[in-house]
Amino acid sequence: MSVVRIELPHCTYDVLIEPGALTRLGEVVRACAPHKRCGLLADPAVAQPWGELARQSLVRAGYGVAQVALEPGEKHKTLAAVERIYGALAEARLERRSPLIALGGGVTGDTVGFVAATWLRGVPFVQCPTTLLAMVDASVGGKVGVNLPAGKNLVGAFYQPVAVVIDPRVLGTLPARELGCGLAESIKHGVLGDPALLDLIERRMSELRGRDPQALAELVHRNVVVKAGVVMRDERESGERAHLNLGHTFAHAIEATMGYGELLHGEAVGLGLIAAAELAHRTGLCGAPLVARLRALVAAAGLPLTAALPDDEVLWAAMQRDKKVADDRLRFVLPEREGRVRMRDDLSRADVSAAWRAIRA
Ligand SMILES: NC(=O)c1ccc[n+]([C@@H]2O[C@H](COP(=O)([O-])OP(=O)(O)OC[C@H]3O[C@@H](n4cnc5c(N)ncnc54)[C@H](O)[C@@H]3O)[C@@H](O)[C@H]2O)c1
Ligand SMILES: [Zn+2]
Repeated sequence: MSVVRIELPHCTYDVLIEPGALTRLGEVVRACAPHKRCGLLADPAVAQPWGELARQSLVRAGYGVAQVALEPGEKHKTLAAVERIYGALAEARLERRSPLIALGGGVTGDTVGFVAATWLRGVPFVQCPTTLLAMVDASVGGKVGVNLPAGKNLVGAFYQPVAVVIDPRVLGTLPARELGCGLAESIKHGVLGDPALLDLIERRMSELRGRDPQALAELVHRNVVVKAGVVMRDERESGERAHLNLGHTFAHAIEATMGYGELLHGEAVGLGLIAAAELAHRTGLCGAPLVARLRALVAAAGLPLTAALPDDEVLWAAMQRDKKVADDRLRFVLPEREGRVRMRDDLSRADVSAAWRAIRA
């Protein structure tokens, strides 16, 4: 088993990564949030067999388990869903010390995390991510929240879990496209902080895509180390945490203009990584080999290399609307070399257009 400890000024928690970890969920929860009852809030897509394994483990550890089935998908990451969950928790008479366990992908983790941050003014919660994207990204770092009609993730909090339990075996049932999305965020972490992670993805791509639990455990471990390092140095995104937006200025514009659902988030991130590398190369920040390597990685992960993008005007406007625009200047995180990125806010519109051209079908 591997354990990554996250130490913040106000709390410390462990991320446990191990094939089979789900069967030990109960003892882990008992060690950090002992109580007679708990809430298990799961995405119905993972109810069988993973939800049942989780429930049995919690029962073995002595918990009375109140189960709440969530409505799946990004369209249910809303305040309405949050209100419905509060109602279910009240009905189940969960108390201030009853932990909540989020079992599902990033939608589940973000929504349940927001519920945990606000229900009874904050209760302990455990992240039990079931998508690769949630394992390598969403479940670590304490950003929780929901969407509004006006935009994604506009309501939320920084609220850290008491533990994160990751069982790579659950990825056995994850659709291939969703697995690719987690690989895109993994490539991102490699570029911004860990060259060896890029080597690992290259070397073991077929095992990863074949859901080999040991290869996935190693992948997740390295990712969590990168993300945890960034979060520990800058929990509230006043500086370095913005590096995690590598590729996302492009990705968000793609998602917003092509309609959510056309491309999955990770697929847009794969395209965004290529565009960011092209932009970096064009402005002299990185060499051509890095651009080529990133393209090859994105392709090997089964992610698209181009998309039928709208016109530049439309993309430019979407980038301006993105909430990461500071003081009216577009800020890009760009790769400098493997494992190192840099923030730039002085790029010309012509350079940005050229980057879009590189990924336009
Ligand atoms: N909090 C953060 O720091 C952070 C970081 C990145 C992303 N996010 C958020 O995460 C969300 C995306 O997360 P996601 O990609 O995990 O999406 P998701 O939770 O919607 O899961 C993707 C799909 O996979 C299904 N699924 C999940 N686990 C499965 C399994 N083991 N087997 C079969 N099917 C399974 C789900 O039902 C869903 O259809 C977005 O809302 C995004 O904003 C948050
Ligand atoms: Zn992302």
